[in-house]
Amino acid sequence: MHALVVYDTNYGSTRTIAEVIATELGQGTTTLSVTDITEASLDGVDVLVVGCPINGWKPTDRMRRFLHTLKPGSLTGVRAAAFDTRIKLFIHGDAAGKISHALHAAGATIVAKPHGFVVDGTEGPLAAGETGKAGAWAAFIGAELRTSA
Ligand SMILES: Cc1cc2nc3c(=O)[nH]c(=O)nc-3n(C[C@H](O)[C@H](O)[C@H](O)COP(=O)(O)O)c2cc1C
Repeated sequence: MHALVVYDTNYGSTRTIAEVIATELGQGTTTLSVTDITEASLDGVDVLVVGCPINGWKPTDRMRRFLHTLKPGSLTGVRAAAFDTRIKLFIHGDAAGKISHALHAAGATIVAKPHGFVVDGTEGPLAAGETGKAGAWAAFIGAELRTSA
């Protein structure tokens, strides 16, 4: 299994979540900043987890540019899930759901509900308990991967 966690970040919290998810998914999992992604980055990937901060109620510009490069059918056979980081606001918008929708539109099978992890302010840190929740979310994904293998 080659699992890849692609993330974007401004202040580091989303990278921290990406790294927790990669550690939980285990051997064969790598992390990659969306700024370093190339056409070849998705070659051979069969599990793809993607996440970024919510910026202005939607995914970051860098993440949206990456999602726009995904052609219909290009993720057929790939199992995928999406997450975001966000501030606890009454109206915070959404990135994870939009990423998940884009991955599905490219042909991926979505194996977990999109999940938002909370930061305590624009520049972080992550709110108490969020890395534990990221580990639990990734463990759920791992279990889904084993049952649907
Ligand atoms: C320009 C900008 C716009 C933002 N817009 C939102 C927003 O609409 N909703 C929200 O919940 N958080 C918003 N935030 C807060 C980010 O979600 C927060 O900075 C991010 O989760 C931190 O993750 P990072 O450390 O990986 O950058 C915004 C932050 C910035 C810098």
